[in-house]
Parts: sequence; C-alpha cells; structure tokens
Amino acid sequence: MSYTRELISKTKKESPVELRLETSQLIDLTTECLIIGVPDTDSVEPTRTELDTLIVELIESGDFKPSNGSTLVLRLQNSLSAKRLVLLGLGKPENFDALAQNEAFSGLGKLLRGLPITDAALHLKSLSNQANSPLGRLGYCIEWAQYEYTATKSKKDNKGKPEKQLATLSILGTEKQKDEVFNGIILGQGANLTRELGNLPANICTPRYLADQAVQLADRFPKLSCEVFDEDALREIGMHCLLSVSQGSEEPARFIILNYQGAKDVSSKPKVLVGKGVTFDTGGISIKGSAGMDEMKYDMCGAATVMGCMQTISEMDVDANIIGVIAAAENMPSGKATKPGDVVTTLSGKTVEILNTDAEGRLVLCDALTYVERFEPEAVIDIATLTGACLIALGRHNSGLLSTDDALADELIKIGRETGDPCWRLPIEAPYQKLLDSNFADIANIGGRDAGATTAACFLARFTEKYRWAHLDIAGTAWFSGGKAKGASGRPVPLLVSWLIK
Ligand code: BES
Ligand code: MN
Ligand code: ZN
Repeated sequence: MSYTRELISKTKKESPVELRLETSQLIDLTTECLIIGVPDTDSVEPTRTELDTLIVELIESGDFKPSNGSTLVLRLQNSLSAKRLVLLGLGKPENFDALAQNEAFSGLGKLLRGLPITDAALHLKSLSNQANSPLGRLGYCIEWAQYEYTATKSKKDNKGKPEKQLATLSILGTEKQKDEVFNGIILGQGANLTRELGNLPANICTPRYLADQAVQLADRFPKLSCEVFDEDALREIGMHCLLSVSQGSEEPARFIILNYQGAKDVSSKPKVLVGKGVTFDTGGISIKGSAGMDEMKYDMCGAATVMGCMQTISEMDVDANIIGVIAAAENMPSGKATKPGDVVTTLSGKTVEILNTDAEGRLVLCDALTYVERFEPEAVIDIATLTGACLIALGRHNSGLLSTDDALADELIKIGRETGDPCWRLPIEAPYQKLLDSNFADIANIGGRDAGATTAACFLARFTEKYRWAHLDIAGTAWFSGGKAKGASGRPVPLLVSWLIK
C-alpha cells in the first residue's frame, strides 16, 4: 500500500517534492537513508538483528549518545540495502514530551534537508509506545523543514540545500502510524502556507492578495467556499470600524469568509476562527518608530493562520463545520487617515473613540467578531498579532490566551501542551474594563500603559457576548524576529487544528 503526497507544492510551485508513505519490511527495504530513533534506556533490548547490534556497539563505544535530538549519519557498505543510516537520539522516554519531540524532529528535518538524498525510510519501532503519539509531530517537522522562502529572490539559491532533494519517505510501521505521519505532513503544509503568506512583503501580500488566495483555496476543495466583501459592501453592512483602519491607505480593505461545510450532521454548529489581517502596520497617524518596522508585514499572521488551518482541515476532510474569517486592511498615515480622537460607529452599533491609531488590530477585529454572531457558533477564537505588551509579558514561547470562558481556555491550554504549540492565560476581568472608558464615545480603543494585552482583549470582549470566545495574542509566537532566522513560524496552526478536529 502506498500513498503519494506533494510536499509544499501548494506554496512553492517551482519544485514540487513528493513524499510517499508505504509499508514494507526492514529487510527488503532499499533506501538511500534509513532513519532509526534511539531512546536512552538503561536496559538494552535483546539484539535481534545486525542493525540492533550495530546500534548497541555505537552507544557502548561512545560514538553515539542517544540524548534527545542527537544525530549520527553513517554510510553503510553492505548491511541491509540501505546506503545510509541516520540515528536520532530520543533521550529518556519519560522526558520525551511534545517540546522534546519538536526539538528532536526539527533537528531530523533539518538534517534530512541537508543530505543529498531523494528518499528516506523511517523505522518507527522505537516511537510506537508513546501515550501522546509523536508521529504527527514527526511528519509536521519534516514538512516544516522542507519549506524555504524564495518568492521574491531572483536566484533561487538553495542555501546549503544539496541538489538532490528528499522526495520520498517510506514508513516502516502500521497503517495507523502511517496515517498519523501523513496527517502531520498535511498540518505541516498548512503551517507552511501560513509562513509563506506571513513572509511575503506587504507590497505583494495586500488585503486584495489575501482575498485572492482565499478564493483560490476554496476552489481546491468542494466543501470549502469563499465570500469576499469589498469596501462598498463593508460600508453597506456597517463595518465602519474596519474601514476606519484602511481609509488612510491606497489599498482597500477586504473582509473574507471561508466556509467549510464538512459535518455529516448538517445542524452541527460551526467553530469559527477570526484572523487579524493587517497586511502592514505603520501605526497610522500614531506612527511607529522606523527601527524594525519591516516586521510589521507580519501583522497579518492571524489571517495567515486562518488560511493555514482552513487548508489543513479541508485536506483532512474533517467531519465538522468550520468557518474562517479574515479582517484585512493596511494601516497607513495620509490626509484621509483616521486621526486620534476620531469617533467611529462599529457594526454592533457601539461607538469607539480612536485615541491611538496604532491600536488598529482591535478595530478590524471588533466588526468581524460582531459579524460572526450570525453563524450561531459553537465557539469563536480570534488570532491576532495584537499587542507588543503580550510579547513583553510572555516572550516567544507561549501565545497569549485571553478568554471569558474557563472551559474553553482550559481546553486550549491542554491542547497547547500536547501539541508543543503552547499558550498561557492572561487575565481578562471586569475591573480592567474601566480602563477603556471614554469621554466622547461608548468605549476608547486604548487603556493606557497598564496591562496592554489585557485591555486589548477587554476591548474585544465587548463584541463577543453572544458566544463562547477565546483570543490568542500571537505577537510573540507568529514569527522569529531579526537576524538570519527572521521568518514566520506557522504558529499557532498546530494548536488550532487540534482544537478544530476534537
Ligand atoms: N501590531 C501591533 C502589535 C505588535 C507589536 C505585534 C510588536 C508584534 C510586535 C499592534 O497593532 C500595535 O501596534 N499595538 C500597540 C497597541 C498600543 C498602541 C495600545 C502596541 O502594542 O504598542
Ligand atoms: Mn498597531
Ligand atoms: Zn497591528
């Protein structure tokens, strides 16, 4: 039995790489590279094969230490039909949690990417006894490592990548294990779509570009449809708060709805994702400093996360109804731009005094959050690079989680731990709401210097009273900042997809 998958071809059209998953026996396996995970256990398993003996010898001689993430590549002369053996240390089994798995498998992904091989085979024996199965993460990490940004480079130089590229991956294991790896690869492709959209510069990735991409995504799946609102339509339905952000820009806003109807039970209520899609955030009239401003092209990573999740659940053909919504606008200063002190009327009818035009994420989101009431959602999660304060509070490891629903928050925290895509809860309680009081409107769009991530979420909470809601502030987790590693991370696609398919 074999499957064929294209690797990252959806985002990288030049060189589609294929990945095949198949079952066969170790003994008659011909491969350029056999990969074996080696846990660090005291009791050495009774040796059954030549290969087991070799591994035990390598450990005993000190040539290989099975600590988590360690690797050893050996060229083989005659044993088996494999040309190379890659040993991947898995550390102590009791320490092999989601984060350790991510570390080990990312290392493996990078290693495979750097080897001049077109095929590899994974021996899953040592990975099969885990409670929280790591195989999805294995597929995810291998796929993640295959991604490379080339869209706006004239020479598609494959930095350090050999000419031969990994095209086929064979799985030695059960049907079920194969499917887990397979789903991990699909998830990795979703995250890579998120990364590509995040990495594209703002002169390409505009609100209209996001809308085009959403339409193209929907064209690929019969269960997925897309609806796009232009500025005239937005004015007509009354989304003036979203429009107040785009009004200073030459780029018109777009409001995008991706509707996945996959539930066998047609009356099943949808889960809804709402993404902040500010394709560039200059701050508007409350303009930002110029240092590092280029990174504000990533201010649409919430929207990119919605796209990545919608692609993933459509590829997986999940049995659920899921709606992804994107509020897209560019935040620019100009003669037409919103001025501090301007008051606008939201779709909900509430008025907002815009005291700081750089607090624009909540302005695009609030109208989207009101709009999605009509779907009578089971729950709504918005995803936004919303506050520098969240980045300061939590750094780049945890996404900020703010929710008025304890059960939903607990669920997300648990899934975050299991997927290695964690979030940490910050408070959102009634006393903070006072900080948003305005003299001239129902609510102000900023709450001063205190508790910045919380007051931003408090603002959103005013528009989410009709359903269960959580907010993920991904200002710290959506991309790696500065330097060589600069680029979108694909988070929190793993967290959200797990939540969506539960
Ligand atoms: N997009 C930014 C938040 C951000 C900052 C994300 C740095 C990632 C890194 C957001 O629109 C913003 O400017 N927020 C302001 C809010 C303030 C004016 C209340 C902020 O965090 O400074
Ligand atoms: Mn801003
Ligand atoms: Zn912003």
